[in-house]
Amino acid sequence: MAERVHRVVALNGSPRKNWNTAMLLEKALEGAKSLNAQTKLIHLYDLNFKGCVSCFFCKTKKNYLSGRCGHKDDLTEVLELVENSTGLILGSPIYVGDVTGVMRCFLERYAFINLAYDPKAFAVRTQGQAVGLIYTMNVQEEDLDAMGYGPIFRSHKSLLERLQSPIVEQLFACDTLQFDDYSRFHAPMFDEAHKKRVRSEQFPIDLKKAYDLGRLLASQSHSQAHSQGHS
Ligand SMILES: Cc1cc2nc3c(=O)[nH]c(=O)nc-3n(C[C@H](O)[C@H](O)[C@H](O)COP(=O)(O)O)c2cc1C
Repeated sequence: MAERVHRVVALNGSPRKNWNTAMLLEKALEGAKSLNAQTKLIHLYDLNFKGCVSCFFCKTKKNYLSGRCGHKDDLTEVLELVENSTGLILGSPIYVGDVTGVMRCFLERYAFINLAYDPKAFAVRTQGQAVGLIYTMNVQEEDLDAMGYGPIFRSHKSLLERLQSPIVEQLFACDTLQFDDYSRFHAPMFDEAHKKRVRSEQFPIDLKKAYDLGRLLASQSHSQAHSQGHS
């Protein structure tokens, strides 16, 4: 049997291309690459696109099984890449209690084309990408529940599971370093020394988790593919 090519696509929902979220995504792709997966990192802020525009092309009787979005913009190509991927990694900072607007727009489009208005089946197709969700935020891990973030994170996981993603894994990088120099900003709630300590002690652990996540997605999509009998 010809060896299957694994394709892992990572989407960066941060406007920053070299800071916390991007670093974790790059590390995750490094993990996927270590298992010979083909990888691609896309910065959503480079693209011109909107959330779902309610055209309902994807709900027409003729097209609903295709999982295609009828609205053409810069996300069209990304949705095609994702459709042809075996693994998808979504990375986003938390902005005002949720993923960033661009990531939310992506999720709207990705979810809506893949869900059916059908009581018998939530997802239009049984195929799906193994998905990794990487979140970065100021909040400390022990405060996630008190801040009310638990239900938001659980809703992302449950949505992707209902869309038949074979795997949905989440990684939370908390208490991240937001600025390189805190002295320039009015941000008395943050202790720069503490933030720098987290960056030097905890962030490397988060990077390792991201690497392992990339490997997991590449390897799990591999076994999933074989168990489904794909070549
Ligand atoms: C507009 C904005 C809103 C933010 N809102 C939150 C928030 O609600 N909760 C939180 O924990 N961090 C919040 N943050 C901090 C970021 O989530 C955090 O710095 C993140 O790691 C940034 O990711 P990046 O370094 O990849 O850009 C916010 C940052 C910005 C710029």
